[in-house]
Amino acid sequence: MDWITSPMWPRIAVGFAFAALAAFLMAAIRQRSLRLAAQRQRDHDERQVWRLRLDAAAALLKRNESNTYSWSGFRKFTVSERHEECAGVVSFTLLPHDRRPLPSYLPGQFLTFKIKHQHQVIRRCYSLSDAPDYPIGNPRTSSILQQPSYRVTIKRIEGPEGPGICSNYFHDQVQVGTILDVAAPSGYFVLDPEDPRPVVFLAAGIGVTPLFSMVRSICNSGRSHQREVWFFLGIRDREHGVFRESLEQLAHTHDNLNLHICYSQLPMGTPIDRRFEHRGRISIDLLKQLLPANNYSYLMCGPESMMTGMRSALRDWGVPDDDIQQEVFSAIRQPLRTTTPTAKVTFAKSDMTCVWNAEEGSILDFATAHGIVIDSGCRAGSCGSCMTAIRSGEVDYVSHPGTSIEDGSCLTCIAVPKTDLIIDA
Ligand SMILES: Cc1cc2nc3c(=O)[nH]c(=O)nc-3n(C[C@H](O)[C@H](O)[C@H](O)COP(=O)(O)OP(=O)(O)OC[C@H]3O[C@@H](n4cnc5c(N)ncnc54)[C@H](O)[C@@H]3O)c2cc1C
Ligand code: FES
Repeated sequence: MDWITSPMWPRIAVGFAFAALAAFLMAAIRQRSLRLAAQRQRDHDERQVWRLRLDAAAALLKRNESNTYSWSGFRKFTVSERHEECAGVVSFTLLPHDRRPLPSYLPGQFLTFKIKHQHQVIRRCYSLSDAPDYPIGNPRTSSILQQPSYRVTIKRIEGPEGPGICSNYFHDQVQVGTILDVAAPSGYFVLDPEDPRPVVFLAAGIGVTPLFSMVRSICNSGRSHQREVWFFLGIRDREHGVFRESLEQLAHTHDNLNLHICYSQLPMGTPIDRRFEHRGRISIDLLKQLLPANNYSYLMCGPESMMTGMRSALRDWGVPDDDIQQEVFSAIRQPLRTTTPTAKVTFAKSDMTCVWNAEEGSILDFATAHGIVIDSGCRAGSCGSCMTAIRSGEVDYVSHPGTSIEDGSCLTCIAVPKTDLIIDA
């Protein structure tokens, strides 16, 4: 067995031993560098978490501090500026009459106004139409929480049942120096300007007001360049585009903002810039053509029909409902979806019991039809003025409430009976 006793074997064994040692050393080095990389990633993640926690704490502080300037009920404001934005739309800047500090607000919130009309008090909501003034995202300066003024932008309404009471009052009678009764900013249709998630805004007509406040807040924020923003503005023509020019200026100075304007009634032959202007209304086909994917947070405000259509088209495109937020400006008049066909409703203070069915609409509509007066404002679940105590029974909501509801009460403008009800009206 010469090959066993051959002098080659020790050399081969030594070679193997060296190779094994080299492999072992390389594996050890690789493992160490993997461990170092993992440690670096952990440190980075930890720093991120701390940064987020610090930012969240700063934001909370900012909001808490800002709340200390808030007020309950109505406060007097003086109109300091009146500015015509475009045909039929005017912006009003408001200063507190008592000259005390004003709380800041979240982009998307609104003010509620109280005006007297033919011996009646009516309330209407108007979105704050500019970005809050505090320097968002900079904890060192976040103690500057006061807002110097508020701005709302109001469209004159010529409704099918005659001219709108409040919008025409503003257009015809509210001048610089007029004093108005205003409730503090409220509403849950809001955007966190610090959230880095890509966002798509769908604004039609006067529905641009809360969304303009949001996009401007993103542009003012320290991290504006990190957030992908798509803004689709639906307007009739160039004369009726509220904030069109301001949006174009923002898009020029912010690469992350992709602005697209859709004209529904642009006169034939008018030249358009095809890179960002389109003929026709905002549509799901346009979104599919322009957006690289459907994975965005969607915020929309415009006519009810546009929002219903877009929501169902987005759903069909695979966008989860949780990723779509919307604000309704005017009362919803459509068949109610309810599992309760009829219910007995007792208006305790008026000592009246009537049978409600789904065709009668909300509890507020039902009460009005029977001559029972319940205070109301927005009729869209936003202002809280129709809140009424429930003595017994339960209600369902036909749309998402935009204001907080006290325990044991309901917002009658968007509530329908779930069981027989006794309410305090
Ligand atoms: C949260 C919230 C924010 C809002 N923000 C703004 C805003 O920033 N700017 C703004 O201009 N409005 C805004 N609105 C709408 C506003 O509150 C009033 O509903 C609107 O000004 C009409 O009130 P009015 O008193 O003039 O009309 P009303 O006297 O209430 O109505 C008169 C007639 O007009 C019809 N009508 C009412 N609203 C509309 C409408 N939007 N389009 C067509 N017909 C209508 C009514 O059905 C009725 O026939 C907002 C509403 C809500 C709930
Ligand atoms: S009327 Fe404004 S919440 Fe009902």
